[in-house]
Amino acid sequence: MTAMDPILRPSGSRAVLIDGKAAAARVDAAAREGALALAERLGRKPCLAVVLVGEDPASQVYVRNKIRRTESAEMTSREHRLPASVSQDEVLALVARLNADAHVDGILVQLPLPAGLDATRVVQAIDPAKDVDGLTAASAGALVLGAPGLRPCTPSGCVYLAREALGELSGRHAVVIGRSILVGKPAALLFLQADCTVTLAHSRTRDLPALARQADILVAAAGRPGMVGVDWIKPGATVIDVGINRVDGPDGSSRLVGDVDFEGALATAGYITPVPGGVGPMTIAMLLVNTLAAAARRAGLDLPEPAARMLTS
Ligand code: GUN
Repeated sequence: MTAMDPILRPSGSRAVLIDGKAAAARVDAAAREGALALAERLGRKPCLAVVLVGEDPASQVYVRNKIRRTESAEMTSREHRLPASVSQDEVLALVARLNADAHVDGILVQLPLPAGLDATRVVQAIDPAKDVDGLTAASAGALVLGAPGLRPCTPSGCVYLAREALGELSGRHAVVIGRSILVGKPAALLFLQADCTVTLAHSRTRDLPALARQADILVAAAGRPGMVGVDWIKPGATVIDVGINRVDGPDGSSRLVGDVDFEGALATAGYITPVPGGVGPMTIAMLLVNTLAAAARRAGLDLPEPAARMLTS
């Protein structure tokens, strides 16, 4: 893949911006084409069920966007909203109903869940065949084994964007900062699957800046605004910024920033994802492809092209 078209070089800077919004639009279009083709074979549209518990404002925005883009991609969405006061058993009962519903291809439980609910138990109750978040033990095990399975969406988006910038990833040193189940751990495994040499770093890693400086591909997924300074980046490295942090400005306004000191990094990196407009839009794009893949696999069909090419492993 040599996708130089989505990439823009801002004047006066060294780094080339990786346009995640444009990449996501292309993946969404492929998912839509695949959904239309699959719907003819299934006799219905592929269907994603999204479960939102409580009133977390950020989660409400994410879920709204997931539903909007699912429907734009010619798939059916089902939104299940539950109050924060719901019991663990009620959430598990809903997941069991969705598991048993033959017309539901993908199930996503938006995280975090409100205090008092056990997110691990809820997520692990999802049928792995419908696990479009790639978070069940079966999906994680398949990723470790390099066996077919549904991969977590945000890390898949990271690999997709690194390929857009660099083409072949084989042999490159990827340093992933952050070891969350949602991003860091699966990202390390996906870059390994792409034949990178992988270092998984975290808050206890010694001399993190020196380690980060060894990276050809630096994935920042620590959730700490501006943590990755310019002196953490090897000249010419590809920087994938997964951070989405809301910070308050001096005038009381707020803005989104990543985990990377973006202005500083522009002078040093070879390629960099902006925040917003980098990794963020890719998460939903990969969710759409996973929903399509789940629908195809459940029906014993191949995932149609071009969507099949969008899968990272
Ligand atoms: N909350 C933030 N990101 C995600 C995600 O990728 N999946 C789910 N289920 N919840 C999230």
